[in-house]
Amino acid sequence: MDLHQKLLGVTFRNPTVLASGIWGITAASWRRVAAHGAGAVTTKSLWLKEHKGHPNPTVISTEHWTLNAVGVPDAGVEKAREEIGEYNRDKPVPLIANIIADSVGNYQKTAAAIMKLQPDFLEVNISCPNVEDEFGKPFACSATDAAAVTRAVKEVSGKIPVFIKLSPNVDDIGLIAASCAEAGADGFTVINTVGPGMAIDLRSRMPILANKVGGLSGPAIKPIAVKCIADVYRATEGEKPIIGTGGVLTGEDAIELLLAGASLIGIGTAVAYRGADVFRLVCEEMKTWCDQEGVKKLSELIGGMHRELAKHSKK
Ligand SMILES: Cc1cc2nc3c(=O)[nH]c(=O)nc-3n(C[C@H](O)[C@H](O)[C@H](O)COP(=O)(O)O)c2cc1C
Repeated sequence: MDLHQKLLGVTFRNPTVLASGIWGITAASWRRVAAHGAGAVTTKSLWLKEHKGHPNPTVISTEHWTLNAVGVPDAGVEKAREEIGEYNRDKPVPLIANIIADSVGNYQKTAAAIMKLQPDFLEVNISCPNVEDEFGKPFACSATDAAAVTRAVKEVSGKIPVFIKLSPNVDDIGLIAASCAEAGADGFTVINTVGPGMAIDLRSRMPILANKVGGLSGPAIKPIAVKCIADVYRATEGEKPIIGTGGVLTGEDAIELLLAGASLIGIGTAVAYRGADVFRLVCEEMKTWCDQEGVKKLSELIGGMHRELAKHSKK
């Protein structure tokens, strides 16, 4: 079983991708993740100028889920230029640059600055659920706003494919995806964190996170990710590649997201659960499953559930 594939002109040795916000700050950390087997790496969300995150505590984990309100801290484009420049000198695997901003105009300015650094894909984070106090509802919650950001980024992104990172916290994610696709999105990352959610310390009777609420990730959100990926795949008729992200811990989880319609698999919280080796382990587990099932190519799996449903509906 060969896990490699080519997507929008970029070759990936396997479908695993380091998700945004997890270790993705420096060239050294991207290289380390690549050395542990990842097929690609995503930067943390990059702002035009320095942005301070939320005060501690920002993360709480159980074996089933993680709640985070890191608040998207970042040093700004100047620092990103140094780190991406250093990574590009001898790039082991493709780099996806994730950007964030507080207005349509600033998304465009940030995209224009980052695309000069020649990332393989641009990922546009319009869906962070834990900065609502600062910026209001994420752009991903409105089809019109999501399309406006997409259009503005596409105007300056040149040949670099633009992936819009969508939120599960909406009534109809398919509608939002269709609207972004019409505005020129080349692909989608599905999903950002769920919620926001809250956890309370029983003794103090206070919320555990200083921000009170945070985005939910990890194994508990996988069924939501699967449903959202299936909805986006259907709404875009399988024509836009999807980086399926949410709750992947094992190779079988990754295969489930492929069957729903993902072409690449983002892995975030599982890095804390299984260590950096999670990328190598997920690939080995995928290969074992494929060998047992006689699957020879990833394309047999991507969107496989939709083809199976179509066969059954004809019967
Ligand atoms: C601590 C933490 C920080 C994150 N930071 C970002 C970020 O900066 N930008 C972004 O687009 N997503 C961010 N995410 C969301 C992840 O990229 C991913 O979409 C989400 O966690 C679901 O995947 P998972 O269950 O594999 O973690 C963050 C998630 C966590 C847990």
